Amino acid sequence: MSMVKVEKHNNIALVSINNPPVNALSRGVRDGLYEEIEKLGTTTDTEAIVLICDGRSFVAGADIKEFGKPLQGRSLQEVQNIFRQCPKPIIAAIHGTALGGGLELALCCHYRVAVPTAHLGLPEVHLGILPGAGGTQMLPRVVGAEKALDIMINGGMIKAKEALDMGLLDKVAEGTPQTIGLEFAQHAIGSRLPLKKVEELQDKKSADLKKTDLFENYRKKIARKTRGFLAPEAIIKCVEASLNMDFEEGLKFEQQEFLNLLSSNESAAQRYYFFSERQAKKIPGLDKKAPNIPVKKIGIIGAGTMGGGIAMNFANAGMPVTLVEREKEALKKGLDTIRKNYQRSADRGKITQEQVDTRCGLIEGTIDFERLHNCDLVIEAVFELMEIKKSVFKKIDAIVKPGAILATNTSFLDVNEIAAVTKRPESVIGLHFFSPANIMKLLEVVRGEKTSDDVINTCLALAAKIKKVGVLVGVCHGFVGNRILEARQSQAMNLIYQGCLPWDVDRVLFNFGMPMGPFAMNDLAGNDIGWDPEKSNGATIQERLCEQGRKGQKTGAGFYSYDPQTRQPSPDPIVANMIKEFNQDNGHKERKISDEEILDRCLLPMVNEGAKIMEEGIALRPSDIDVVWVNGYGWPVYKGGPMHWADSIGLDKVVSKLEKLSSEDQNENLKPAPLLLELAKKGKSFSDLSQ
Ligand code: 3HC
Repeated sequence: MSMVKVEKHNNIALVSINNPPVNALSRGVRDGLYEEIEKLGTTTDTEAIVLICDGRSFVAGADIKEFGKPLQGRSLQEVQNIFRQCPKPIIAAIHGTALGGGLELALCCHYRVAVPTAHLGLPEVHLGILPGAGGTQMLPRVVGAEKALDIMINGGMIKAKEALDMGLLDKVAEGTPQTIGLEFAQHAIGSRLPLKKVEELQDKKSADLKKTDLFENYRKKIARKTRGFLAPEAIIKCVEASLNMDFEEGLKFEQQEFLNLLSSNESAAQRYYFFSERQAKKIPGLDKKAPNIPVKKIGIIGAGTMGGGIAMNFANAGMPVTLVEREKEALKKGLDTIRKNYQRSADRGKITQEQVDTRCGLIEGTIDFERLHNCDLVIEAVFELMEIKKSVFKKIDAIVKPGAILATNTSFLDVNEIAAVTKRPESVIGLHFFSPANIMKLLEVVRGEKTSDDVINTCLALAAKIKKVGVLVGVCHGFVGNRILEARQSQAMNLIYQGCLPWDVDRVLFNFGMPMGPFAMNDLAGNDIGWDPEKSNGATIQERLCEQGRKGQKTGAGFYSYDPQTRQPSPDPIVANMIKEFNQDNGHKERKISDEEILDRCLLPMVNEGAKIMEEGIALRPSDIDVVWVNGYGWPVYKGGPMHWADSIGLDKVVSKLEKLSSEDQNENLKPAPLLLELAKKGKSFSDLSQ
């Protein structure tokens, strides 16, 4: 069936695209558009053309699945040229989202109208590419260079009203795309509106040419946020070209930059990530018919940093929360922190004062556990000790109404053991939020042995509702994320025993693209986690640090010393000496270790642990592990995730490096996992398992 259809409405042709689910510009769409617009350009009884889309959205972009394959049929550029050359006004009537190539196509129309709920954007940057169908040349001419850079480098979506204000739309009106499009077309015919062409706009370009430090300043402004990504700099270069070159030359320049990015490892990793995140939502074998449990009211136990952060997620989504603490003082402290966090967002202009009040108003604080009785979901976020968790679950099992979901936010403990103390293990699940819980996007949804399908379905849907990336994992110590983290942290410590200094290890991982290295991370979390002052006798580096009060950032010193004003870390000779002494005391032989070896010793054990996690069925697919690491720990998305990274260097190499490390260290943990050996032997990669 044709993906492009034409319907005549008197002297107006209504051209509609039908390519579910998001009307991507696949070959059939491109070919159909080319053919129909070319014909309509010469059809005498057609005076105007309206372009609309069927289904839930206007065109959401080029078809990402076609990237990297030889072009078939008409190119998007050929289609755009037919639009530009059309002697009759073409009006794009937008609903849903006009994204990427979709917006670039709309920009080749003479007019753009939209329904109020529509969103527009050029999100290519998230795929490691740039708008490659003229977006970098057209957008600055419409909205000005700086705004265009913001739109393309942030890759976010613009609401219809905002797009209208910046001149990206000509009209926003209530109705269907068809009605508002036809109405505008009649107006265009009746008023003999000129054929407005974006490439001919001059005003913004002339004004931007006078702003001499625009690009230099912009580069400085985004440097930190875009570290390691290739696309933002390429976008800036293209926008510079839009000012310094004529339109045709600019398009050629953009095309070359686009192709360079498209063939980069970074873009391949980001496109892999795009599909991985969507794949993570698909759970084989899960009974999709299992009814979702209506969740209207949330209970949270524990008003500490974690509980408070979790509460904010639900309040942000407009859901009422009952936050329970044991003592009034702790409760007050928790509620105050929540208000302070909201207020800080309001002071930065991210939310309004009214939103601060509404959200705080949705969180009811209490020290009365009985108030949880009518909650649909209760999340426990108390101290990480099995006995405490069990007693909380026994208590809530008796209070909370039947059918409600009981969740634990444990980061390591056995969800099955916790579920076993209740009379409803089928309603018990792990919901592992990552700190700071109101910011980090990951939610590990931990399926217990007896957790029912409807509880899982409900929690995955809820993750999306509170704008988290939910990943279903199984029960084991640390689940997916923390288990792999432990593998890395222990090898990072091994490096210290062999003569590395913390800042050497951290530098290598930071340069790899991680937001911080293992030791800066320890300082942030607190070196005193699990430290017992009673038993401490300098047997580990952690003990020696804590004995000297170096508990991390919170005490102004840990592996690093922190500037009291700026909180900037700096390497500390005291720690270097402490490590030296520790190694001498314990007979550790120090040696010079290269950056490459540091990286291997930190990252390869993560891959190995990931392989073991797959063997045990804790993660459904390697790409789920990558989604966990990108969202929970800041693994650079342009390197895909640990499993994708391993694939990119080749599993045979991963195996031989691990074999070398394990024999050098006589360390069983570094021995390649059987799955890794098997894949490498067969010349396969983890992606072969990510179906
Ligand atoms: N190409 C191919 N498939 C696409 C696609 C695209 N551009 N956009 C979405 N899909 C697929 C998804 O993979 C998913 O497939 P699945 O059901 O098999 O998993 C399905 O469409 C639905 O997508 P979502 O689950 O993401 O649906 P949502 O409703 O949550 O979101 C959306 C819709 C906001 C459109 C979101 O899909 C999205 O952001 N898509 C990507 C938009 C984009 O990046 N556009 C630019 C493309 S590159 C380009 O245009 C280059 C040009 O400049 C030359």
